[in-house]
Amino acid sequence: MSVYASTHPLVQHKVSLLRDAQISVKSFRELTKELATLLAIEATASLKVEAKPLTCWSGTISTPMLAEKQPTLVPILRAGLGMLDGTLAVLPCAKVSVVGLKRNDDSVKLDANGKVDIAIESYYQNIISDVSERKAIIIDPMLATGGSAIACINMLKASGCTDICALFLVAAPEGIEALTESHPDVDIFVAAIDEKLNDQGYILPGLGDAGDKIFGTL
Ligand code: PRP
Ligand code: URA
Repeated sequence: MSVYASTHPLVQHKVSLLRDAQISVKSFRELTKELATLLAIEATASLKVEAKPLTCWSGTISTPMLAEKQPTLVPILRAGLGMLDGTLAVLPCAKVSVVGLKRNDDSVKLDANGKVDIAIESYYQNIISDVSERKAIIIDPMLATGGSAIACINMLKASGCTDICALFLVAAPEGIEALTESHPDVDIFVAAIDEKLNDQGYILPGLGDAGDKIFGTL
């Protein structure tokens, strides 16, 4: 697995603005969308193109076009929906597969190695039927323990997908390590890698609860 931490100045600036404790729901949504667009540009830079025939005004030319089917975007409900419009700005023809996962906050415990362990509840899955022929791009603002992302990747692989990457706004080192161990073939693109998790599995300094901030349910 490769971890790409964006070095784009606008990405760094916008993540910093997201951390403001006084941020409004409107600003949080807008920045999440803008960051999703910037990360999607980085994540799609390696899509393959091949020369294809095209009839243009001056005749038929051979011109570079995407070699494979459009990727499928995979927002992890619910916070991942906040990144959907931003990624669709780059991939307007992308199919969307949806996975509903929720951390069970009452299940938080420390495992034998002192790592935060949180049960993940799966409540919805609608993955496009030809996912085995597409790249899947998971979108979720937060990679904390890694449990949700790992569960999502398990679902995609069980559906036949073999080409997966994931975009996160903020990632904890613990989540990156867990993801690397479970799915070494999955590349991740992050706007910021933070310091650590607290004992409730929240990222420090982090953003707080991204889903609540996007949906205004604080
Ligand atoms: C948040 C976030 C990720 C997950 C990350 O979702 O959007 O999906 O937590 O944590 P993890 O890496 O420890 O699994 P949450 O479960 O709070 O659900 P929500 O999006 O419905 O708010
Ligand atoms: N989910 C969030 O929304 N924030 C965190 O810090 C961890 C998980």
